[in-house]
Amino acid sequence: MTGSYPNMRMRRTRASAWSRNLHRETQLTPSDLIWPMFVTSGEDVEEPIATLPGVSRWSVDGIVARAKEAVRLGIPVIALFPNTPPDKRSDDGAEALNPDNLMCRAIKAVKDTCGEDLGVLTDVALDPYTAHGQDGLVNDAGYVVNDETVAVLVDQALNQAEAGADIIAPSDMMDGRVHAIRIALEMNSQPNVQIMSYAAKYASAFYGPFRDAVGSGGLLKGDKKTYQMDPANAEEALREVALDLAEGADSVMVKPGLAYLDIIQSVKQRFEVPVFAYQVSGEYALIEIGAREGIGDRDALLMEKLIAFKRAGCSGVLTYHAPVAAKLLGA
Ligand code: PBG
Repeated sequence: MTGSYPNMRMRRTRASAWSRNLHRETQLTPSDLIWPMFVTSGEDVEEPIATLPGVSRWSVDGIVARAKEAVRLGIPVIALFPNTPPDKRSDDGAEALNPDNLMCRAIKAVKDTCGEDLGVLTDVALDPYTAHGQDGLVNDAGYVVNDETVAVLVDQALNQAEAGADIIAPSDMMDGRVHAIRIALEMNSQPNVQIMSYAAKYASAFYGPFRDAVGSGGLLKGDKKTYQMDPANAEEALREVALDLAEGADSVMVKPGLAYLDIIQSVKQRFEVPVFAYQVSGEYALIEIGAREGIGDRDALLMEKLIAFKRAGCSGVLTYHAPVAAKLLGA
């Protein structure tokens, strides 16, 4: 203790704006933000997503326009997710391996336009491509089989890297996939492609609007509890992170964000590696809909949540609020 009342008055440093600025422990800047976007087919298409107010799916041309906006706003990375046409979904998710699929076309278009000014992060998992909405291959008993799925995920990751992806983000939660992807990248002359693993990804009820956005929600039978984590577990998250780092992940993600701040903090303290949070679709929607219903000021609500991720130890945050937040930060 450095003192007690009245020698010490905690309110002294809070008494004016300049002093509050001086004593702020955590900063949020546009360069902390990763902006997730949804790609759809066609040209000049914008499809608003009802459960994700303010977010639309865009055709590739619209994605390129958003990418340029990201550069203008100082946002370093965008994350792409496809809404695969229903006739291209199959039980084995083969469209994920098509070098001309929606994702690859979007990656190429963005990299052709923005080059080194913008990083492109891509999700590795089969759910936007499967007819059953699971992240991997399903056997007759309805179980998502691990090793066979990893073999496909490796090809999916290479397909994305060859299209120009800068960061491969496996979100599938299969065992051993980070190692397999890392080796494949090395062997295919892609040594600088990063892996940001969704290391601690929970079987969460907050993914609903995302599944609407990629069109997998209506298809999904059952749940993802045999591969995504139990929200009750924290030690297990540390084991997941340790494994993904040993397998070659450059950075790790905790997902969802807000309900898992304790996990973020433990991972940061234990491993001292770059940690990212994914403020997922349901978290975003709660702020938008809550503000609309009058529970508080939208901008204040979202900035308070984003700074909490930085305070907990994040290097950055994937958030659908990225463009709004960047503008609020003066970009
Ligand atoms: C796909 C994936 C999901 C999200 C990101 N990648 C959904 C899921 O696992 O069902 C969720 C993101 C969000 O809710 O914003 N594996």
